[in-house]
Amino acid sequence: KIIILDFGSQYTQLIARRVRELNVYCEIHPFNNIPETTADVKGIIFSGSPYSVRQDDAPQIELERFMQKYPVLAVCYGAQYIALHSGGDVQPSSTREYGRANLGYVSQSSKLFKNISETSQVWMSHGDTITEVPDNFEIIASTDSVRVAAYQVKGSETYAIQFHPEVTHSTDGKQLLENFLVDICGCKQEWTPDAFVESTIANLKAQLGDDKVVLGLSGGVDSSVAAVLLHKAIGTNLHCIFVDNGLLRKDEYEAVLEQYKHMGLNIKGIDAKDRFLSQLAGLKDPEMKRKAIGRVFIEVFDDAAHEVQNVKWLGQGTIYPDVIESVSVKGPSATIKSHHNVGGLPAYMKLKVVEPLNTLFKDEVRRVGKTLGIDDVILGRHPFPGPGLAIRILGDVTAEKVAILQEADAIYINNLREAGLYDQVWQAGAIFLPVQSVGVMGDERTYENVICLRAVESVDGMTADWCHLPYPVLAKISNEIINKVKGINRVVYDISSKPPATIEWE
Ligand code: XMP
Repeated sequence: KIIILDFGSQYTQLIARRVRELNVYCEIHPFNNIPETTADVKGIIFSGSPYSVRQDDAPQIELERFMQKYPVLAVCYGAQYIALHSGGDVQPSSTREYGRANLGYVSQSSKLFKNISETSQVWMSHGDTITEVPDNFEIIASTDSVRVAAYQVKGSETYAIQFHPEVTHSTDGKQLLENFLVDICGCKQEWTPDAFVESTIANLKAQLGDDKVVLGLSGGVDSSVAAVLLHKAIGTNLHCIFVDNGLLRKDEYEAVLEQYKHMGLNIKGIDAKDRFLSQLAGLKDPEMKRKAIGRVFIEVFDDAAHEVQNVKWLGQGTIYPDVIESVSVKGPSATIKSHHNVGGLPAYMKLKVVEPLNTLFKDEVRRVGKTLGIDDVILGRHPFPGPGLAIRILGDVTAEKVAILQEADAIYINNLREAGLYDQVWQAGAIFLPVQSVGVMGDERTYENVICLRAVESVDGMTADWCHLPYPVLAKISNEIINKVKGINRVVYDISSKPPATIEWE
């Protein structure tokens, strides 16, 4: 495997993804908490950083721990750090260097630049520049304005680059990473979804033996893939629990339960609609609603888990970005994102936690799901919040409002599917606005509520743009909702992006 030392760059996760795309396994570790390196480490990548190496509080590491012991590829901050600490010099650039640049010189004999053109486009993003390197450094690439765009420490496998190979604007970035991983580190490119499935199942078997595991299924991608992996490892010792909180999409509970049974999972569906709705009654504040739903979920899940005799483990669909966030350089407080899947299960359950997906990115989870033969309907499903439709009904939640929203939402989503737009949209849903407005139907005056349609494009939900859905599709959806859904006489489309708006309305 490859270890990526994170100095806090926004691009660190992207480096990991590129390495994985080349079928090489890698892990990100914060520079200030690096595990003992083991024999299976084939190379080290130093990330960039928002810090300048010249700052007093800049991240520091002991270079001797890595250099000369492993092949090293240092990116941006990493490159400047090695240069500065080996007797070179780093100064603020006279012009800040951001964006596209073209190499002008590339050492033809360098292993790192094999098959890379002399004029290759690279992506720069740095405020400092390496102005001097010691004698034992060889400059292996330059641009017009950056003389030390890449160097190698002579007689060693330490390489450093000033640009970012991980962003797609560096057109030969992937080739460069492949050169490092394969030619320099000797990695085999064997880390594929198939290999992951095989080794994970073997590990789960060894870890769990005859123990029983409970797992809460949500219908979403992560929990479904985690369940199938565990099922392949321990069969019916995996007890899945699927709670109907009454806040799911129309008919989703029945459809998903059926699908899970069809997949052979040992699953118990629990109808807790009334429990959730009665606890929500009268609550208007979004956070109070979330808290009530979280509390009831834990009660219901706990009751169901207790019915399984002798259960030792709690299975969860936690994925790698959640793990990285909770150990990140900036610390968990810098990124405000609660573990939706974890949902704060009580410590008194005293269960050990097993998380088979905690080394995977979302797209890798989907690829693993495909290898496992999981239906595309599950793998391609839009993200859906744990509190469900409760946070898409502004203000207090009642059974009637849920029913109206479910109808409108179903019309919306079905039309997106029919128009072939569902897979192009990252997340879509209807929102119930408890605002009454005047309309006219036939000869009658109506005074009813509003449905708002929301559709966004996003990569990870952290930022999002509203989708420019075609007018004819919007027109059809609006007509159908107003004609078919009693209680709605107006449909609007949300044209706000995140930030400053959020994806959900509550
Ligand atoms: P926002 O509204 O914060 O949403 O832009 C970002 C993503 O997170 C989902 N979301 C939630 N998921 N529990 C969840 O499990 C929640 O309380 C919650 N709030 C928002 C939202 O659907 C979107 O995908």
